[in-house]
Amino acid sequence: MISGWRPHAGQQAFLASNAPVRVLACGRRWGKTEVIAAEIVRTLLGGAPRQVLLVAPSQEQASLGFERALEFLHRAGVRPTVRRTPAPTLTLGQSRLWARSGARGGTLLRGRKAHLIIVDEAAYVPEVVVTEVLMPMLADTGGRIALVSTPRGKNYFYRLYQQGQEDGIRVWSLRSPSWHNPLLSPTMLRMQASLMTQRQFQVEYGAQFLDEAGQVFRTEWVDRALLLNLPSDGLVVAGVDWARYRDFTALALVQGTRNQAKLLLIRRWQQLSWKEQVEAVAQQLREHNPVRVLCDRTGIGDPLLEALQQSGVPCAEGIAFTPALKQNLIENLALMLEQGRLQLLPDPALLNELYHFEATPTERGTRLQGAGNTHDDLVIALALAAWALPHASTGSILTSGRKSL
Ligand SMILES: Nc1ncnc2c1ncn2[C@@H]1O[C@H](COP(=O)(O)OP(=O)(O)O)[C@@H](O)[C@H]1O
Ligand SMILES: [Mg+2]
Repeated sequence: MISGWRPHAGQQAFLASNAPVRVLACGRRWGKTEVIAAEIVRTLLGGAPRQVLLVAPSQEQASLGFERALEFLHRAGVRPTVRRTPAPTLTLGQSRLWARSGARGGTLLRGRKAHLIIVDEAAYVPEVVVTEVLMPMLADTGGRIALVSTPRGKNYFYRLYQQGQEDGIRVWSLRSPSWHNPLLSPTMLRMQASLMTQRQFQVEYGAQFLDEAGQVFRTEWVDRALLLNLPSDGLVVAGVDWARYRDFTALALVQGTRNQAKLLLIRRWQQLSWKEQVEAVAQQLREHNPVRVLCDRTGIGDPLLEALQQSGVPCAEGIAFTPALKQNLIENLALMLEQGRLQLLPDPALLNELYHFEATPTERGTRLQGAGNTHDDLVIALALAAWALPHASTGSILTSGRKSL
């Protein structure tokens, strides 16, 4: 089909299934995006006019699969018409492929029809997008859907996977660890294993559906928080976690009260100088004009805080993390999620950080952080922002820093 490309055994099994719903759960670097591209190309070159939709948690991720499919088409000697803005689309005779992010409820997609829908990293795409937006697009065409992903706990992707294990005809499913990709180097796998906790490696490379053990933010809370539809009113507050060493600088903006709040923006930046970090954060803050900004000043001290205050964010406050304070911040965030008081955004990096954020008992108390070497910058920024929210009862904000803690 595509010259020089041979599917490995797991990829062959996926391509061979005729089921209307296919669920493929595999580890990182298994070749998910690769097999998705192959499936798209096969469908486009099948002769009949076909509408193919590729969905992923973010536009960047959707573009990866799109570009890979385009490369395969070129290798097959086919030159489709390509448009990349506002979103990647290619046309080949009467067939078309378009690639979209499923993050914002997929409003752009409503009402369209498709013969084949593929969702890359499906466990990170909100369930409603799949059931209420994507599935109905197949009704008229009798089309097929494939959900391909690294697991993220026991969410809807897991339930569909299980359905496939029991059914096998309407729903086909396969779980396969990264090392089933024969091209993957064992050295790379060993290195990754050394960077992660065992549990995290079991999920990300072993493709296991694990939940709970040590997990602080349960997957069902997080998924439910994505489905909330809270009003956009109330004060805006922010949390900032500055990068140290190899970390990211992260910013979260939240609106509302501790009783009912909504995440407005979550962003991170890597490898910026101190000056650039301050400028990037200040620019976002000036745009949203929060009434309170809590910044982690652990190990950094006041220079960054002062720079931020001087960059048009006078309300920025520094807060030094003690283990007790960190515990309070994390518990507050967990409770808000558990009780459905915080609406989240389906940002894939945030969802991954929340999923891998662990509580580990130690001799000196509980250690709370991203498992192994996972980043937890976004979680910390979000926890700071949630902590900065006013209590519902007063509606007022305590800006004297210390007193409000
Ligand atoms: N059948 C194949 N033939 C050649 N290379 C492959 C094949 N499957 C996967 N790869 C390569 O393995 C790596 C991981 O594939 P990718 O599709 O990006 O994995 P995933 O999306 O599962 O993380 C890439 O470098 C890709 O080109
Ligand atoms: Mg991929």
